[in-house]
Amino acid sequence: KRLWLVVPAAGRGRRMGAERPKQYLTLAGHPVLVQTLARLHQAFPEARLCLCLDPDDAYFDPAWVPFGEWRRSPGGAERVDSVRQALAALADEAHVDDLVLVHDVARPCVTVADLRRLLANLREDAAGGLLATPAADTMKRDDGHGSVARTESRRGLWHAQTPQGFRYGLLCRALDAARARGLEVTDEASAVEALGLSPRLVPGRRDNIKITHPEDLALAAHILAAQRE
Ligand code: C5P
Repeated sequence: KRLWLVVPAAGRGRRMGAERPKQYLTLAGHPVLVQTLARLHQAFPEARLCLCLDPDDAYFDPAWVPFGEWRRSPGGAERVDSVRQALAALADEAHVDDLVLVHDVARPCVTVADLRRLLANLREDAAGGLLATPAADTMKRDDGHGSVARTESRRGLWHAQTPQGFRYGLLCRALDAARARGLEVTDEASAVEALGLSPRLVPGRRDNIKITHPEDLALAAHILAAQRE
């Protein structure tokens, strides 16, 4: 069976407030997108890549892609729309039982060890799975006016990261069903859960951060340097 990598990189990164989308900001000497693809390629050199890119993207350079076999698909309005388009772009070659790992371009600090461990876990699990970390902070629910309504137990709460991996057929079915039911889908696992399945939580590293806010770029640079020591 083949391994497919879907990398949503069609976001405009408005929360960064930068002059260009965050995947093109420089991190440790290279664009974020290059760092992320380098990690994925190091872990899975034989995988096939589908990169979701904004059709109006003015920054992307195909020379940055280290994979031998890759294609691009147009991004959609939301992240989930970009992923749907990517799955559609694979339909000619992907088999229902092929594994698809979806990894946000904005997570360049994922380690090769975590990537491989996730894949090893997925091979045994029909419901797929994701990298995640247990919640460490005490969790508050607000009252809608800036004050605490109550404290939520953090026991059993996890932060969902990417990659998230599923069989191609299952993921297509889950995202179609979610759309038909009008569900809000912010990650692949939630669509699979809505089918009544329980994706595996694979404990990952807390430094697999998603670059979202301006200060995250310096943090990511620090993490990459520390990982190389
Ligand atoms: O904005 P946020 O960090 O939640 O986006 C997560 C990932 O989804 C990023 O890698 C971003 O490029 C991607 N994305 C996308 N298409 C969209 C919105 C976000 O591929 N329409």
